[in-house]
Amino acid sequence: MCGIFGYIGIKDNASEIILKGLKGLEYRGYDSWGIAVKINDKISVEKHVGKIGDAKVNLPKSTIGIGHTRWATHGGVTMENAHPHLDCTGEISVLHNGIIENYREIKDELIKKGHKFKSETDTEVMPHLLEEYLKKGKNFTESMRLAFNHCKGLSAFVAINTKSHQIVAAKNGSPLILGIGENEFFIASDASGILPYTRNLIFIKDNEMISLDKNLKLFTLPDGKEIKPKIEVITWNVESSSKENFKHFMLKEINEQPKVIRNIAENYEDQILELAKIIKKSRGTFFIGCGTAYYASLAGMYLFSKIAKKHVNTAPASEFNYLEDFLTKESLIIALSQSGETIDVVEPLSRAKRKGAKIVSIVNALGSTVYRMGDFKLLLGAGPEKAVASTKAYIAKLSILFMLANLIDNNNFKSVKNILLKTADQIEKIVTDGFENKYKNLIKFLSKKENVYIIGRGISYGTALEGALKLKEISYIHAEGLAGGELKHGPLALIEKNSPCIVLAPDDDTYDAIISNAMEIKARGGYIIGISSKKSDVFDEFIEVKETGCSIISQVIPMQLLSYYLALEKNLDPDKPRNLAKSVTVK
Ligand code: F6R
Repeated sequence: MCGIFGYIGIKDNASEIILKGLKGLEYRGYDSWGIAVKINDKISVEKHVGKIGDAKVNLPKSTIGIGHTRWATHGGVTMENAHPHLDCTGEISVLHNGIIENYREIKDELIKKGHKFKSETDTEVMPHLLEEYLKKGKNFTESMRLAFNHCKGLSAFVAINTKSHQIVAAKNGSPLILGIGENEFFIASDASGILPYTRNLIFIKDNEMISLDKNLKLFTLPDGKEIKPKIEVITWNVESSSKENFKHFMLKEINEQPKVIRNIAENYEDQILELAKIIKKSRGTFFIGCGTAYYASLAGMYLFSKIAKKHVNTAPASEFNYLEDFLTKESLIIALSQSGETIDVVEPLSRAKRKGAKIVSIVNALGSTVYRMGDFKLLLGAGPEKAVASTKAYIAKLSILFMLANLIDNNNFKSVKNILLKTADQIEKIVTDGFENKYKNLIKFLSKKENVYIIGRGISYGTALEGALKLKEISYIHAEGLAGGELKHGPLALIEKNSPCIVLAPDDDTYDAIISNAMEIKARGGYIIGISSKKSDVFDEFIEVKETGCSIISQVIPMQLLSYYLALEKNLDPDKPRNLAKSVTVK
């Protein structure tokens, strides 16, 4: 979370270079943004609350600066809390991605020493700490080392100092990538904004620090030992994405899902067979991911049990730290992630790696941290996912897991491919068949509701959770995904007249039981929306999804579309829901 972009070099339009870089990083946070540049011996800062959109910057010319898009952690969404932050002299400016866990005590110490604070952020302690170390006669690089070592928590900091005309950066958490151009350096949270300028990159590792002036120096932390930088020449391109004729990225990405499935069906056989061999050899396979990616891994657990007849474990990646005690060298961790930067995934992977476990990364973003951590790497191939809510990356994960579960059990690739291709056709029909018009009344009805319940059993359980997540994040309607059998163990108490309940009823071994659960809800006045290939009398509203042999993939589509159209009905921005960010790099 939070996007970082910095520039030092010979061009004098640093603020414009930074603004352009920040526009590509807005997916990391869009609460506020700001840029700081050096003007003579002081720093000039421009800050704005809200999304960057097609903003312009009004700072004077400069050859050095840093910029930030914020996802608020400490302190509300205000101008004062927007980064970059300054020290008391106005000669040091800092931006930050992460959390300084002991900021309160550092701030109290600094206040006692006379430092004046302007924001409620944890970040603001950093420029004042740097100021303190400079006062003690340390140089700027050494000041950063000492200040960084003073802070607890996972963070990436980038700071400029007018006196030394220098950028320093240090990290032990969020990503930082350095681009090396001709007489210029770029530093950013991801490679996309740097690649138009240079293909020579350094992926700064955790517990490393860099100093940039005319030269580049790399150090280890906490000791400050200088090391030789390893420059990687990047050959891949960052795919760009536009809305084309769609009103929003989310709708475009929902529409791209058939193409994503077809790509996997047609091109992934060899890679998936290779992965199947790795899984067969492992003693203990764990699928981990967060949010939507976790629901995909949950679906994977059911697919493996049902199709591959193999038990795999799954856990939200943010919980995996507490479940890792039994990992061994034979364990296999399969991490699912769209961005490949989610800290809650990166952290348990680092610990598992230290224990010698093998890592498989199944990610969408080439070159991302999780991608690079994998002993075996598999790309989702879904193309850039710009909307904050994940749609096509989820479908890609499910398609891969479905193929994998099948290819572990037998090598009948042809039948798996046919099922996936049929499913892609089926989804194409749903997305191009006037969903909004067909379900106009349902969308109106749901838009007035505060709560929605979604039930599924077996393989559809994960889909119920994912459907609820989509509704929550895009339409701001409280939605609860439940295993159908769990209703009567408590949540049924919430059902009253016209409580909407979406029932996932694929034509499989869960059908009869889930219909019985729907009856139990209806008997208490609930309004039943059935997503199924088979009509039932219990449904007040029927959304038909034809059976293709892989209902787990197609049944989520109506819920993606419902969430999207509900957002429009409620006048919300489906691409950038409040409080969220596309890449979650804080714990
Ligand atoms: C929901 C959503 C999130 C992400 C989660 C993990 O629509 O997008 O729940 O799935 O933050 O992100 P990645 O997949 O980038 O690790």
